[in-house]
This record gives sequence, C-alpha cells and structure tokens, in this order.
Amino acid sequence: MAEFIALIPAAGSGSRMGEDLPKQYRLLAGKPMIYHALHTLCSTVRIGAVCVVLAPDDTEWKRYDWSEFVGKIKVLNCGGATRAESVTNGLKALHAANHVQDHNWILVHDAARPGLSHALVERLLDQLTDDEVGGLLAVPLADTLKRADKAGRVQRTESREYLWQAQTPQMFRAKLLLDALGKAHAGITDDASAVEALGYSPKLVMGDAYNFKVTYPQDLKLAELILQERIATR
Ligand code: CTP
Ligand code: MG
Repeated sequence: MAEFIALIPAAGSGSRMGEDLPKQYRLLAGKPMIYHALHTLCSTVRIGAVCVVLAPDDTEWKRYDWSEFVGKIKVLNCGGATRAESVTNGLKALHAANHVQDHNWILVHDAARPGLSHALVERLLDQLTDDEVGGLLAVPLADTLKRADKAGRVQRTESREYLWQAQTPQMFRAKLLLDALGKAHAGITDDASAVEALGYSPKLVMGDAYNFKVTYPQDLKLAELILQERIATR
C-alpha cells in the first residue's frame, strides 16, 4: 500500500468563475486546469497513487486523454455537494476498495491550484512525514488587513502577525482526516479546519504565491503565464 496518497477534489462547478464549463476543465497552457496539478502529483515519486474525485454527472473528464498517468491515477465519480463531502466520499470509496490504510498520509489538493510545484510537494512531505498531526501549505499574509463595518467602511486595521493564508495540499493521516470530516460542521472550506475542530494544531509549511487558487476570471491570465513558463522550462 502506498504510504502517500494524493486526493484531488474536482467536483465543483466553479460558480465564481461564471462560466458553464467547470473551471477545473478550463484550458490553461493548452491543457485542462486539473492536468497541471495531476502532472505534479503523479510525477512525485514518493506519492504512490493520485485519486481524482469527480462529480457523478461529470461529462468532461472523458473528453481528454489521461493515458500518461495510467498506473498512478484512480478516478472516482463520487463527488458531493461541498468540497468536504467530495473529500469524504473519495476517502470512503478508497477505504471500501482497500486502497487506503488508516495510517497512510493523504494529501488533499484542489484541482483549482494548477501552480503547485514539485518543490512545494517535496517540502510538505519532508516536513510532515514524522509529524504527529500533519499540516498544510500556507503563506504568511502580505497585505494590510482591514475589518469592515456593515456600511463597508473601515472599522479597524487588524494585525497580520501570525496570520497565514491556507493553501493545499493539506496532509493528514487517513483515519484522522475521515474522523475529522465526519464530525465537521457544514461551513468548513478546508481539511485542516476539520482537524483543528478536534483540538489538533496542524503544522504550517511555507507555500508560495504560484500555488494560488484560480477562483475568479481575472485569475486566469496569471495562471496561464505561470504554467506556460513552467512547461517551457520543464
Ligand atoms: N470541489 C469539489 N466538490 C464540491 C465543491 C468543490 O470537489 N462540491 C472542489 C473544486 O472542484 C476545487 C476545490 O474543491 O478543485 C476547491 O473549491 P473551489 O475553488 O471553491 O471550487 P468550486 O467550488 O468549483 O468554485 P466556486 O466555489 O466558485 O463555485
Ligand atoms: Mg467552492
């Protein structure tokens, strides 16, 4: 059994992108967005398997040729209504098929973060392999932080000391992650917050700005530039 398993939730609709096509299939540097993170994770030697969680009614995946990843990827059509549900369903499916053991490390990575580099994955693995809890890539907040009132005026400036922006992959052992997601409240938007709610303190591992989440239409141009450059220098 693989010690490290990546799980990519890719069952979202990309509502903030405002296009009919779910954003994970939007072409970037000539490939569907999800291809880029898949490429990075599949070519990381220490990662034994990469599971992609699609929406049950996904019609896009089969339009593309994924044969270069054969042997390493597993496609699961069990996405749910929220990211947390998609991750939970994916983990349960792996468990049911005996493809995961409780102590295996699961790296959950958003399909919408195509800028993930090998260097970041390796850093995450290096820093967390012997960790008791697990953790996540994140970057310290760069901008000055304002708290607004209801009228959209500044109430006060918040200190940004000790504030980080969470990225993915987020890496936890399978059992802890499944327990945490099973008990999590409905509003969570990442895996670490479910683990935190059980009283654990996940470790913050330094990410980088290239690993941002493509969310709005204006994010596409930057992602395109980053990926074109990466492919040109591969
Ligand atoms: N995701 C998922 N299942 C869902 C919702 C989201 O697997 N029900 C995945 C997305 O496909 C994406 C990742 O979780 O890879 C991060 O979510 P986000 O960036 O919010 O994507 P969407 O939910 O698709 O976008 P939006 O919130 O704008 O609708
Ligand atoms: Mg979403």
